[in-house]
Amino acid sequence: MRVKIEKLDNFGRGITYLNNRICFVENALPGEIVDIDIIKEKSKYIEAKVVSIIEPSKDRIKVDCPYYDLCGGCSLRHLSYEKENLFKEEKVKDLLNHIGKLNVKVNSIISGPENNYRNKVTFHKSKGKIGYFAKGTKNIIPIDNCLLLDKVINNNIKNIKADSNEIVIRSSNDSSEVLMNGNNSIITSIGDKKYYLSIDSFFQVNKYLTKELYDLVRKSINKKYSNCLDLYCGTGTIGIYISDLVDSVIGIDYSESNIKDANRNIELNNTNNISFICDKVENKIDTFKDVNLVIIDPPRAGLDSKTIKYLIEINPEKIIYVSCDPATLSRDLNELNTNFDILEVTPVNMFPRTYHCESIVVLERK
Ligand SMILES: C[S@@+](CC[C@H](N)C(=O)[O-])C[C@H]1O[C@@H](n2cnc3c(N)ncnc32)[C@H](O)[C@@H]1O
Repeated sequence: MRVKIEKLDNFGRGITYLNNRICFVENALPGEIVDIDIIKEKSKYIEAKVVSIIEPSKDRIKVDCPYYDLCGGCSLRHLSYEKENLFKEEKVKDLLNHIGKLNVKVNSIISGPENNYRNKVTFHKSKGKIGYFAKGTKNIIPIDNCLLLDKVINNNIKNIKADSNEIVIRSSNDSSEVLMNGNNSIITSIGDKKYYLSIDSFFQVNKYLTKELYDLVRKSINKKYSNCLDLYCGTGTIGIYISDLVDSVIGIDYSESNIKDANRNIELNNTNNISFICDKVENKIDTFKDVNLVIIDPPRAGLDSKTIKYLIEINPEKIIYVSCDPATLSRDLNELNTNFDILEVTPVNMFPRTYHCESIVVLERK
């Protein structure tokens, strides 16, 4: 069946319409004429795959990864990187508009190198094979070089001695240290700050853009605040990075490994105005008073309703919301907007060649 692709959906799939139903076509770009085969048909939508490209888009590029068709890690390798960045900028605008009901200006996206940016990988092992799961399955595709990974990680794939079914490899942001299957930790850096990082702890995966992201947080703190909360603080990275701009910071994260590293990071950076709590944000949020700056960096699920309710009650002068999912971000901003003005939205392409996009939003009390 021959169709014309109209636009991309939020996951980077082409969209066309068949018999008044939306049809998602992987690996197809806006404006392209493609022949498709239907692979799934539901009452509300259809999924199809490209059989042949009749008229390619001028934005289509040659795919440079041999695993691309099998592996679900990347979704935009067939689109020029320049257009990927524009797609993400538009996606953030669209979601803020449609889900958030917000008509706000979105700054140009900040982007960095498109390959070899990831400082962490999780491989799986099964039946003697080590690699990624093939898209939507638990079948292993053996990988000997992944274009997303820091080169030092790729160089170490051959050294994997897997005695478990899941293998994590991490590298420090300057690529000088590698951590594989141990209980020990490495020291990594962001700007002039240093951070202990254990195998199970959270750390931003883009070795090039984390400093840019955290510098945006710093830039948004344009006066001296007294009490700051760093919610979903991971290993205390943002709180420590901005600790000189505030009188005191309390960081909260529910992961013991993160908080253990965060406490060691206080000493490593000689920071004496920050403390950490190991608990769920929603268990502690109603205990804070006199907070004038809140930094939030939740997982993709975004904020829960209790946290939003108490953020409104705490009523800080400023909220800096760092988000890795523009859909849940838009949902949460719709609620926060009743009491806070949205001053600035900046998308940051922390996850090139995938459909994911980070954003940072600055809100100020009305
Ligand atoms: C996107 S990471 C941000 C970490 C940190 N701000 C950074 O930049 O490295 C989200 C963090 O939220 C933590 N987390 C997830 N759900 C949580 C919850 N309900 N309460 C507290 N922490 C949570 C995770 O352990 C993870 O460290």
